[in-house]
Amino acid sequence: AAPVQYQAESATISNGLVESNHAGFTGSGFVNYDNEVGSSVEFTVTAASAGPATLTFRFANGTTTNRPMDISVNGSLAADEFSFPSTGVWTSWTTKSTTVTLNAGTNKIKAVATTSNGGPNLDRVDVDAQSGTPDTVA
Ligand code: GCU
Repeated sequence: AAPVQYQAESATISNGLVESNHAGFTGSGFVNYDNEVGSSVEFTVTAASAGPATLTFRFANGTTTNRPMDISVNGSLAADEFSFPSTGVWTSWTTKSTTVTLNAGTNKIKAVATTSNGGPNLDRVDVDAQSGTPDTVA
């Protein structure tokens, strides 16, 4: 099935702001994480069936410093200090993927900044359930 796109600006944001001042985002904006440990974005995503899914995060990091985040799925750590390296400038967006296991139905995917720089600017996450059954449309 085709990946389903979940916009960060529509997710649950804790200590971050929706902004649109750096071109190249999709949807209506992106999340600017507060520059602190623990700022987060939590997506509620739906999978048709339990199994592996590829998460593809689209982000920009206009600093020279990696902005790692812990990626958790339904409260369990799935990717420890997953790196969001420099993209050069804030208008340069790129993607990074990781594979996780989803439950059938609703899942919570949370991306939490682990350094005092906060997270990158986060545009969206694409969820590609690899089950062979169609994804539920967001
Ligand atoms: C700048 C930039 C923001 C970014 C911030 C940061 O202020 O304009 O989009 O989020 O740096 O360092 O996190």
